[in-house]
Formats: sequence, C-alpha cells, structure tokens
Amino acid sequence: RLSLFPFVLFGSGSSGLGNKESGYSQDDQEAIEALSVAFIEALMRKRAEQALRKNEKLYRALFEHSNDAIFLLGGDGVHISANLKAAKLLGYDREELIGMTTKDIVAPREYPDAKSKLDVLLSGQSLPLYERVFHTKDGFDIPVEINATLIKDSRGDATYIQSIARNITKRKQAEERIQQQVQRLTALRTIDQAIIGSIDLHLTLDILLKEITEQLGIDAACVLLYNPNMQSLEYANGCGFRTSALQYTNLRLGEGYAGKVALERRSIHIDNIVEDENGLKSAPLLADERFVTYYGVPLIAKGKIKGVLEIFHRASLDVTSEWLEFLDMLAGQAAIAIENTELFDNLQKANFELTLAYDNTLEGWSRALELRDMETMGHSQRVTDMTMRLARALDVSENKLIHIRRGALLHDIGKMGIPDSILHKQGKLTDEEWEIMRKHPVYAQRFLSQIDYLRPALEIPYCHHEKWDGTGYPQGLSGEQIPLAARIFAVVDVWDALNSDRPYREAWSQEKVLNYIQEQAGKHFDLQVVEKFFNLLS
Ligand code: C2E
Ligand code: SIN
Ligand code: SIN
Ligand code: FE
Ligand code: FE
Repeated sequence: RLSLFPFVLFGSGSSGLGNKESGYSQDDQEAIEALSVAFIEALMRKRAEQALRKNEKLYRALFEHSNDAIFLLGGDGVHISANLKAAKLLGYDREELIGMTTKDIVAPREYPDAKSKLDVLLSGQSLPLYERVFHTKDGFDIPVEINATLIKDSRGDATYIQSIARNITKRKQAEERIQQQVQRLTALRTIDQAIIGSIDLHLTLDILLKEITEQLGIDAACVLLYNPNMQSLEYANGCGFRTSALQYTNLRLGEGYAGKVALERRSIHIDNIVEDENGLKSAPLLADERFVTYYGVPLIAKGKIKGVLEIFHRASLDVTSEWLEFLDMLAGQAAIAIENTELFDNLQKANFELTLAYDNTLEGWSRALELRDMETMGHSQRVTDMTMRLARALDVSENKLIHIRRGALLHDIGKMGIPDSILHKQGKLTDEEWEIMRKHPVYAQRFLSQIDYLRPALEIPYCHHEKWDGTGYPQGLSGEQIPLAARIFAVVDVWDALNSDRPYREAWSQEKVLNYIQEQAGKHFDLQVVEKFFNLLS
C-alpha cells in the first residue's frame, strides 16, 4: 500500500498540479512534488538494486551449480574466482585457490603449453576445446577438457580469461582400455605369426616373452619346459633377468614354485617372494634379482603339461581381472608354441626316417638293375659317387645334390622296359633294336614322374644321352639346354661304360677311354665339365 502512495500523489499532481482545491499552497505543492520525485528516485534505485541482486543470485547459482569447474583468471594468469566444483576437482579450499596461478594447478609437464594457450587467448584469438592434465592438491593427475575464452569489461581495457574445465577421467580410462586392448590383440597376433612362421622354439619363446613383459608391464619372465622322460622342468628362455640365476633351473615335479605349478596344474601367485620361505631354496642366486611379485602359470596343451611360464616383478603388482585374463591367454599361446614345435620335430623325424627308407629302396632298385643289365657290380654306385664329386667340383648347390644322387643311382632304370633279347645281345643292335633301346630315357621319365619324391631327380635318367652338339636322344637338346646334372653325368657314365666289359664288347684300356673323352669334349660332352673331370682324375 505504501508503494502506491507516491503514484497516487504523482497521479493527482499530473492530473492537476497547483490545483487550489487540493488545499495546499503553491510552495507546499512544489515541496511535496520535489520530495516525491526524490522518493520515487530512491524507490526506483532500490528496485533496480533488488533486480540486480536477484540477477546476480541467478548468475551465481549458474556459476556454482555448474557441473564443470569454472575459473576466472586475470591477464597475469592469477585465479580471481573459481566455483565450488573447481575447488572440489582440485582438492583446495576456494580461498586457497584464489590467488593461485595456472602453474600451480596444471601438471608440471603441461605448464609450457598452458602458458602459451593463455597467451594466445590474451592476444585476442580464440581457442578450440583442448585437453589438459590438472595436478590436485593431493598430488593426483586429473585429465580435463578445457573451454577457455577471453572476457573484456565494458570499457574494453581490463581483460579476464574464463576457463571451464570438465573432468574426462572416465573417457580417458575408456580410451586407454581400448588402446590397451588393441595393443594386446596386436601382441597376440605377433605371437601367432611367430608360432606359424618359425620352427625354432627358442625364437618363438623370445618373441613371446618380450611381448609378455611389455604388455603385462612386468620386469622379467621365463619359460621352463617340461621334460616328460626326466619328469623335470628345465629353463628354456628368459627375458628381463639381471643374473643367470634361473638359467640353471632344473626342477623336479613338485619342487619349487614352478614344480608345484606343473604338478598341480594350477597357477601360483606369491605377493612377496622375499618373505616366502618355501619357494627360492633351489635358486638362491635369485635373491640378487630383488623380485617381489611372482606368478607361475602352467602351460597345458591338449591336456598335457608342456612347461611353466614364470613372471617376476621387482615391486608389488596391482592387477586387474583383464590383466589375469591376458596372462592366461599368453600362457595358452606359449603352450601352443611348444606343442607346435614338438609336432614339427616329430614330423621332421618321421619324414627323415621315411626318406632314409626310400633311399635304401632306391639303392636296392639300382642293384637289381645292375644285375639285369649284366654290368659290372657297383657300376651305379661308382658313377653315382663320381657324379657327386664332379658336381661338387662344379659348385652345384647342396640342395640339388640329393636329387643328383638319386638320379644317378636310377639313371638306367628305363632299361627295365627293354627286353632281355636286346639288352643282353652279344653283337651290334639292328636299327629296330636300337630304336627300342633309345627309348630307355623316356621309360625312365614316365616311370619316375609318377613318384613325387623322385620328380626332382628326373634330369639324369631322362637326359643322360643328350649330346652337347645336339645329336643325342630322346629330345635332341644341345648345349646348356641340357640340364647341368645330365651333362655332368654323361661324362661319368661313358667313362665307366668304356672301362667295363659289355656283352657287345670288351672293356677299353684306360688310355683309350681318356683319349676318347678328350676327343668328344665339345661334341658329345660339355667342354667345361670334361675339364673339371680331368682335374678330378689327376
Ligand atoms: P651302356 O652300355 O651303359 O653305355 C652307355 C653309353 O656309353 C653309350 O650310350 C655310349 O655313349 C657309351 N658307350 C658304351 N659303349 C661304347 C662303345 O663301345 N663305343 C662308344 N663309342 N661308346 C660307347 P648309347 O650309345 O646311347 O647306348 C645306350 C645303351 O644302349 C648302352 O648303355 C647299352 O646298354 C646299349 N647299347 C649300345 N650299343 C649297343 C650294342 O652294340 N649292342 C648292345 N647289345 N647294346 C648296345
Ligand atoms: C587454469 O589455470 O585454469 C587452466 C588453464 C589451462 O590449463 O589452460
Ligand atoms: C621357481 O622357478 O619356481 C623359482 C625357483 C625355485 O623355486 O627354485
Ligand atoms: Fe643309359
Ligand atoms: Fe650306365
């Protein structure tokens, strides 16, 4: 009601100022008017102040209830104001926070960047959102995302910076976890490739242990292999050890931590091996390593114990369930790696034994062949040995020698297809007989090409009657078209044939044989091969 009073007054004044009927004198009237104007002014001011206070309350509420930390900084980087959230985030009282600088609240390594960001803002440029690590009063790092802007007062001289910071710890943790998952997957892939790509267990275990120490963030790790014959665990590979303490590890089942892991087929975790009395007796040198934490994990593949993975750390380890899961996966990989090389070793052994069996069979064949050909006993073995020597002298690579050997042993296997009447004929062959005899390399080719294992050995049986000048058979190849193995063998074969009795003639004299070979160099034989052959004979 009181507030209406001046308006009533004013209202009556405006409708008839100086009206005699009001009962006031002119002076009184003016005094009242002046008074009421002052009153109105005072009232208006009060109202404006009220409105301002109300406004300010509103803005303060906005400021204080914000989910983000809000800082107001002076141009010098000193905090002038900060909301409750800011104080809570950093662990300071609000009074403490005011007066502190950017340098006091950011992680030291980030200060140079914080300083340059503030300078950018002060220069009038705006900044996109950026990330920062705050350093709390209690010494923790907190990742935040900052939205900072420059504020100028109405006259445009004093400048402030408003910095709104949002805690992004959760997001960062999620990002780190994804990052870690990716790294772990990559590690598993690296290990898989090592397992697939290598038949050398130690090489694979080296890669595996490197990934294990890196990905699990531990100081050292090793693999002990189970030897089923001795029922013992032997050190295979290690990574991160300062001493050779564990390299001599040879534990029986049940002995030491690892022996227990293998025997019971379950993991062991020791928090403080220094204080544990049971574990380290058989490896006293291990004390020098100053390990604190120990994990032993059994390596089991297809239900069989293959060894033990041991993990050591020189401090306590705070591990997550994900860490343990990953450790299990890595142990699984190690078991597969061991099992794989065992499989391969066994396969290789079986393969080697089979090869031996084959080669014995081949020698049997070639002897049977000699008997039928009525050649001198040991012709095949002799030409084979000489061919190998000549091939080595001509620098034929090791991996080709095995096939040359087999080819030489079997060079005349095609004669199995030649009837006795021709093969054992005492005199010269007729044209028809000769035509059949000349088929023996083709028979050899047909026969041997059916056997995978002998296909690479075909060059000699198929091509040993080709001649350098192209007048040989069955294909009429010339020069280097003729496989080197066959060029080598041809010299040795003719040399040995002429040195031997044949049903169709007596053996030649040594001199005659050598003269003949010399004379045929460049016609029947490769000149270079003949040269080496004579070197070898002398
Ligand atoms: P082989 O007896 O093992 O002879 C291998 C090769 O040594 C012959 O290939 C030939 O290049 C050379 N050689 C062997 N004996 C003589 C010889 O008396 N004089 C000369 N200059 N070279 C000789 P070739 O000629 O292609 O013969 C392949 C195979 O055919 C011989 O293997 C042998 O089994 C048979 N053969 C060749 N000529 C006669 C023959 O007159 N009578 C009979 N019964 N068989 C023959
Ligand atoms: C601050 O002092 O409020 C932080 C500024 C910054 O880190 O950029
Ligand atoms: C282990 O490998 O289990 C630790 C060494 C030991 O117990 O002797
Ligand atoms: Fe032949
Ligand atoms: Fe022969």
